Amino acid sequence: MGPIRTGIIGCGRISSSHAAAVRQLEGDFELTALADPNESRLRELALRHEVSHLVESPQALCARNDVDAVIICSPNEFHADQAVAALAAGKHVLVEKPMADNAGDAEMMARAAGRSGRVLALGHTFRHCAAIRYVQDHLRDYGALRAVEVSMCVKWDGPQTDWWTERSMEEGLVLSLFAPHALDFVHMVMQDDVLRVHVEAARHQSGWRGEDEAMILLSYPGRRMASVHVSYNQDYVVNRKSLHFENAFVLIEDNEKVWVNDELVVSPPGQPDGAARRMGSRDLTPYFVDQLREFARAIRGRPHRCILADEGVRFTALLDEVIRAAAATSRDAVH
Ligand SMILES: NC(=O)c1ccc[n+]([C@@H]2O[C@H](COP(=O)([O-])OP(=O)(O)OC[C@H]3O[C@@H](n4cnc5c(N)ncnc54)[C@H](O)[C@@H]3O)[C@@H](O)[C@H]2O)c1
Repeated sequence: MGPIRTGIIGCGRISSSHAAAVRQLEGDFELTALADPNESRLRELALRHEVSHLVESPQALCARNDVDAVIICSPNEFHADQAVAALAAGKHVLVEKPMADNAGDAEMMARAAGRSGRVLALGHTFRHCAAIRYVQDHLRDYGALRAVEVSMCVKWDGPQTDWWTERSMEEGLVLSLFAPHALDFVHMVMQDDVLRVHVEAARHQSGWRGEDEAMILLSYPGRRMASVHVSYNQDYVVNRKSLHFENAFVLIEDNEKVWVNDELVVSPPGQPDGAARRMGSRDLTPYFVDQLREFARAIRGRPHRCILADEGVRFTALLDEVIRAAAATSRDAVH
């Protein structure tokens, strides 16, 4: 089987990590085409990754015969239509998180995937590492899971790209751009649909309209519960996940180290000391490489760890609930 010829739609910040991953998996993948309405971004990515076929529109990219799979890295509002168009053109799709702006759009994408028989996978990048996989594989080892706490806090000093500026509370800022990583972890370990959602959200910075800090409380069947704290206001980066099982306490730090009670069972892959605590200090490419490797396995019909369309719909419904709850309870705190 030859390499999966891959096109990228949207050549902004995150596209570069995907392009680097495609190039690292030479043999499995080949980067054949790029699309972006912004010509300078298109050219910059093409130059860095030696791609010669550049098009301005996603439609033109989907019409190409030398593209088997598409990675969608455009702003959230375009994910659904672009995924549907790519699937209809017979391409496999890896779509950046969040899959769609709402569960209705996510369902439309899932139906398109079903019709096409192609893979629609979600870019929930931070599942793809040794620490999270260890926990996923040992979920049944420690008795009943009772509670989960996730804290993911970073510092973004203002909008990192133009479309962050205008995102409203109803669309979600930190809740739709950052919380999906934290909520995906909760969704993965709970393996159930949520019963109740409570959210408090607030805005501390003035360069955007949406919330930049939020606390989410979730309740699940079987008297299980989870709390999630996400922030764009924290200089000292925090990424901590705690799981309270009947027979063990499991702690994941920085998606790298895992402790079961006091025993360190997964150690970091050699990042510099303290790198996880500073924005931009870590090389995140391995996550994107692992994610893409799983995408190739899904395309080739092998066992894989991709999150596919149906699970994506359930996850998007959870995200809808969270954003709705925040808009209902926190309007005053944000504005
Ligand atoms: N997995 C992760 O860790 C991660 C990290 C950052 C961003 N993301 C996701 O990736 C997506 C892109 O985010 P970003 O930060 O790279 O944004 P960005 O603004 O830097 O890049 C988006 C690119 O899409 C282009 N674009 C705009 N309209 C388009 C259209 N209609 N069709 C095609 N391209 C279009 C823009 O010109 C820009 O180059 C978002 O959905 C975001 O949530 C994921």
